[in-house]
Amino acid sequence: MKTIDELIAEGVTGKRVFVRADLNVPLSGTTITDDGRIRAVQPTVEKLVAAGARVVVASHLGRPKGAPDPAFSLAPAAARLGELIDADVAFATDTVGESARATVAALGNGEVAVIENLRFNPGETSKDDAERGAFADQLAELADLYVGDGFGAVHRKHASVFDLPARLPHAAGDLIATEVGVLKKLTENVARPYAVVLGGSKVSDKLGVIDHLLERADRILIGGGMAYTFLKAQGHEVGSSLLQEDQIPAVLEYLRRAEDKGVEFVLPVDVVVSEQFPDLKAKAPTEHRTVPADAMPAGFIGLDNGPETNKLYASKLADAATVFWNGPMGVFEHPDYAEGTRAVAQALVDSSGFSVVGGGDSAAAVRTLGFDENAFGHISTGGGASLEYLEGKTLPGLAALED
Ligand code: 3PG
Repeated sequence: MKTIDELIAEGVTGKRVFVRADLNVPLSGTTITDDGRIRAVQPTVEKLVAAGARVVVASHLGRPKGAPDPAFSLAPAAARLGELIDADVAFATDTVGESARATVAALGNGEVAVIENLRFNPGETSKDDAERGAFADQLAELADLYVGDGFGAVHRKHASVFDLPARLPHAAGDLIATEVGVLKKLTENVARPYAVVLGGSKVSDKLGVIDHLLERADRILIGGGMAYTFLKAQGHEVGSSLLQEDQIPAVLEYLRRAEDKGVEFVLPVDVVVSEQFPDLKAKAPTEHRTVPADAMPAGFIGLDNGPETNKLYASKLADAATVFWNGPMGVFEHPDYAEGTRAVAQALVDSSGFSVVGGGDSAAAVRTLGFDENAFGHISTGGGASLEYLEGKTLPGLAALED
């Protein structure tokens, strides 16, 4: 994989460089609630600016349906990028249309433009190679060189991630280089004990990684909505909690394999429950209580790990030499159900081992709960991407940068 420094050394001054970033930031209306992904690509953009390139930044945001949708505009992200790099950032209101062509043509050396959400064009995510290729052809007309730095999207076989680098001389940006370097530490010669904390809502999203980790990790701690499928599989009442009944056979198989392999599988021993899902906008105090995980009352929803679980998980992480954490332990967006997530974050901060927070919601949780990012070994920008990397899958966006 060519590095961005090698690309710059070959000469980028005056060249149009397409930077595929992941600016898929959480928004509340047009307000960015966590700008971590924009800050993560900033060094790459600044390097290219300093080298006199004409920088064309592109990304997806959310999952619009292949047509323009103002709710998913990248305009707020473009404005934030401008603030961060302390320069004017031009914004094209389409992806490959008149606005994009004119905006890119007007760029001077060392100037930056952001084009509109790539997913406003159906070609970006199409499963049809020809349709994706046709969009990649149009994107290729906007640039002379390609830098892949959208780590959060490298697991997607999308036009700007997979097809475009085949059409332009390309290199990996600093973010991708850093992310891959860290993930290698979790897959090759891992320092032990190796503990993994998995949360989030769906077991089905994590099956691949659990399967893989059963061969590699020493401890797997489960929390969040997915924990209730494990508790149900063990025969416990889970009330109206999130449940993927169809995953129970898979979960039972994993519990059996963990026992065979001597992998410690740790489940909540107490949980915080309420009769209603909280209002995440108003964040008003709710009626809730803590109950043992094997005695949840019918009709109640499990919304967070309880205090005994928090202590147990902290003890399981205290002596870990390597920790990977993906997925919140509860509905951390509401203060009544943030303690489980906070406790895991705190345990990672307190641990002297190498800790990696894997992307998406857990990365946002760490920052919104006020933790210092530097207290962690690494906070990944890629949720799905880091999980698929750990599963040992070939990631299209990394494969495309290889040659
Ligand atoms: C993410 O949020 O994990 C990345 O930006 C990828 O987004 P996607 O899951 O919509 O492809």
